[in-house]
Amino acid sequence: MTILSSTLDLTSPEAQAAATAMREQLAEIDVEVAKAVAGGGDKYMARHHGRGKLAARERIELLLDLESPFLELATLAGYGSDFTIGGSVVAGIGLVSGVECLVVANDPTVKGGASNPWSLKKSLRMHEIALANRLPVISLVESGGADLPTQKDIFIPGGAIFRNLTRLSKEGIPTIALVFGNSTAGGAYLPGMSDHVVMIEEQSKVFLAGPPLVKAATGEESDEESLGGADMHARVSGLADHFARDEQDAIRIGRDIVSRLNHRKAAGPATAEPKPPRYPAGDLLSIVPPDLKSPFDPREVIARIVDDSDFDEFKPLYGSSLVTGWAQLHGFPVGILANARGVLFSEESQKATQFIQLANRSNTPLLFLHNTTGYMVGKEYEQGGIIKHGAMMINAVSNSTVPHISVLLGNSYGAGHYGMCGRAYDPRFVFTWPSARSSVMGAQQLADVAYSVSKASALAQDKPFDEEGAQAMRAFIEGKITAEALPMVLSGLVYDDGIIDPRDTRDVLGIALSAIHTAPVEGTSSFGVFRM
Ligand code: COA
Repeated sequence: MTILSSTLDLTSPEAQAAATAMREQLAEIDVEVAKAVAGGGDKYMARHHGRGKLAARERIELLLDLESPFLELATLAGYGSDFTIGGSVVAGIGLVSGVECLVVANDPTVKGGASNPWSLKKSLRMHEIALANRLPVISLVESGGADLPTQKDIFIPGGAIFRNLTRLSKEGIPTIALVFGNSTAGGAYLPGMSDHVVMIEEQSKVFLAGPPLVKAATGEESDEESLGGADMHARVSGLADHFARDEQDAIRIGRDIVSRLNHRKAAGPATAEPKPPRYPAGDLLSIVPPDLKSPFDPREVIARIVDDSDFDEFKPLYGSSLVTGWAQLHGFPVGILANARGVLFSEESQKATQFIQLANRSNTPLLFLHNTTGYMVGKEYEQGGIIKHGAMMINAVSNSTVPHISVLLGNSYGAGHYGMCGRAYDPRFVFTWPSARSSVMGAQQLADVAYSVSKASALAQDKPFDEEGAQAMRAFIEGKITAEALPMVLSGLVYDDGIIDPRDTRDVLGIALSAIHTAPVEGTSSFGVFRM
């Protein structure tokens, strides 16, 4: 029998405290998400609508299949910066004419849709996702090009946007540009580099330079329509493949293009009939304790996200601080690695390595559920080879070729974050729960280390040590690291693909797994040298 049982008691004080904390964190995140949804705010939204134009999210909604889900990604890009949250781009995965596509839409209400450093980071991440998962890219273009005040941060690296588009095309991944408005200068290469281009009568404007710049450069008198209007591009230059009468028409043409792409899923669809878990998703609010020093059993999470709560545990009696096992999720096979008591020891590392090898033998995607403070420290563990065993796990994670997805549930600290496939290890997707925290080590430990180092340094140099000042510095550092480890900060930096409501975990992972199966799922038997 591999159906998980549950001991979660929703009426216990622990479960209630967990749910209260989770709801508070969700409410804080909702406030920031609302800012992203508001885009440039009421004034610019009203002006945009007043021009008879649809907002970025409205365009996406019309583009997607009726009542199909949209997995919005990197919604909070730019959080904590001076820029509007969202990076002036709305992006995500959705169904267009029955095909899973990656949609990237400029938000013209935010600084004319100009690309700032966060827009660039987010757009590059979206291209990475499209390339790895072979998802067609649909760009909904309306942008003032580079954000001029920050051009030094975006101009040179921003060239990758155009290079990516043509590389996607080379890989046989279709790229489609629906041009809703301005697409000037560098932006002109968005349609220029796309396989399919749709422009809208008297609305799309695509030129390397607008009339004032042309006048300044060459003295030539020109107007926007003859320089870069849809009519001109459809009839004269040939840059537009389709001439749309209005926005709705452009979206209809976009959907028709996708329907004729003949883009097939290489590894899908799901192999088994999905079965709902035996426990309600709502319980997922009540599992992670507000104080992450207290452990929680990840099986309680697994029981609420996998099909039929059926989890075939691998090596349950060995290395029990890491739970590993096989399941189906929305009908897709997955191998799950989940931290149980936070710390990773040598046994856990060896178990993980073997499990990752097995997943590669059976071409099974891996799901990492993070709640780790890292690898165990101390003489006994160093002498027992914790470094070589941790390295073995990191080697396996680095070279594994089956798709990985990471979800940060609680702690994700130090090298444990790496071993559990943190962002730098190229998981296909990384999502965070509001309860997650991630940094090089816990804030208190980091502050203590900084304090000890400064004290030892003063002593070594025979300098007087300012205990009061050092304690103030320690408190300051602890506060700073605590704040930096929050999911909104990680999301702001585009270190994850989004913060998710724990109750949505199963469906988010289902969409991600389905998207992943658009590309082949192939394991490897080739790893780096394992130091045994
Ligand atoms: N960088 C930074 N800010 C920009 C910008 C850019 N590339 N393009 C527009 N903005 C700002 C405007 O300054 C304005 O800010 P404000 O309202 O705080 O004063 C806001 O975005 C809206 O611009 P506005 O011109 O009023 O909007 P619009 O919808 O009438 O026109 C554009 C939008 C994009 C057509 C127009 O702003 C434009 O031509 N921008 C410059 C395009 C360009 O040549 N870019 C070069 C890129 S390499």
